[in-house]
Amino acid sequence: MTGRVAGKKALVTGGAGGLGEAIARMLAREGASVAVTDINAEAAGAIAASINAEHPGRAFAYAHDVTDEAAWKDVLARAAADMGGLSVLVHNAGIGGALNFLTDCDLDAWRKMQAINVESVMLGTKHALPYLQANQPGSIVVISSIAGLLAAPGMGAYNASKAAVWLLSKTIALECAKAKMDVRCNSVHPAFIKTPILDPFVAMSGGDEAKAHERLTRGIPLGRIGDPDDVAYAVLYLASDESRFVTGAEIKIDGGLSAQ
Ligand SMILES: NC(=O)c1ccc[n+]([C@@H]2O[C@H](COP(=O)([O-])OP(=O)(O)OC[C@H]3O[C@@H](n4cnc5c(N)ncnc54)[C@H](O)[C@@H]3O)[C@@H](O)[C@H]2O)c1
Repeated sequence: MTGRVAGKKALVTGGAGGLGEAIARMLAREGASVAVTDINAEAAGAIAASINAEHPGRAFAYAHDVTDEAAWKDVLARAAADMGGLSVLVHNAGIGGALNFLTDCDLDAWRKMQAINVESVMLGTKHALPYLQANQPGSIVVISSIAGLLAAPGMGAYNASKAAVWLLSKTIALECAKAKMDVRCNSVHPAFIKTPILDPFVAMSGGDEAKAHERLTRGIPLGRIGDPDDVAYAVLYLASDESRFVTGAEIKIDGGLSAQ
């Protein structure tokens, strides 16, 4: 099937690499216009240019710090003007971090993670809803993590941030429904996916990427870690009208990790 999101106008945060890049490419391939936003403006521009080389005029790029409320207002206004509206918002930008037990937790590092991973979802949703309401049906997709559902030692800051956006997605879903908006909101919960966010695990394996991936694979029943497209396919479904009766839900993309 092609054109599954034809005519949709999507904004993907953290779109300059990793999962965001895969999501932006997938949505564009399936017919959406895509605003690629990232704090790394140069890389976002390169991704948009490469999408446009295949699908002329379909991608736009913006410098965007998702913790900055004024930046959200500015980027949303420019993206909606460039794309002719906004119907899909993918809250993808996020950071992992050093694996620290809470006894070694640094308050500034904790706050930075909550600002990027959690506050961004509140700020972006707040300012995007008027655009989504004007372009119904709309869809908000929040990239949480399997770590928002399952805890692990040393991951307190990340666990807390991803659990927060898991439930926040449901609040958003219910508030939109209550306001009689045809805007859905769902969360996606990947386990380990091959992107730079896994670098701390590679460092723990002495810089040996293959060894790190092999270690991460051990807990995964399907016997591999994920590829970015494994997540992008779920986002494609949630962004499309195929999921029109799905809101306040979570999709786990974890190779069976959480089924054990
Ligand atoms: N890769 C995984 O294993 C995995 C698993 C579960 C969840 N996730 C989540 O998926 C999302 C994407 O992660 P990824 O693996 O692609 O990581 P990544 O590090 O490859 O990409 C993250 C992107 O976010 C951008 N970013 C960072 N801070 C920002 C800010 N303040 N404003 C705007 N952009 C900012 C970075 O520049 C980068 O392009 C994150 O929310 C992450 O927590 C990833």
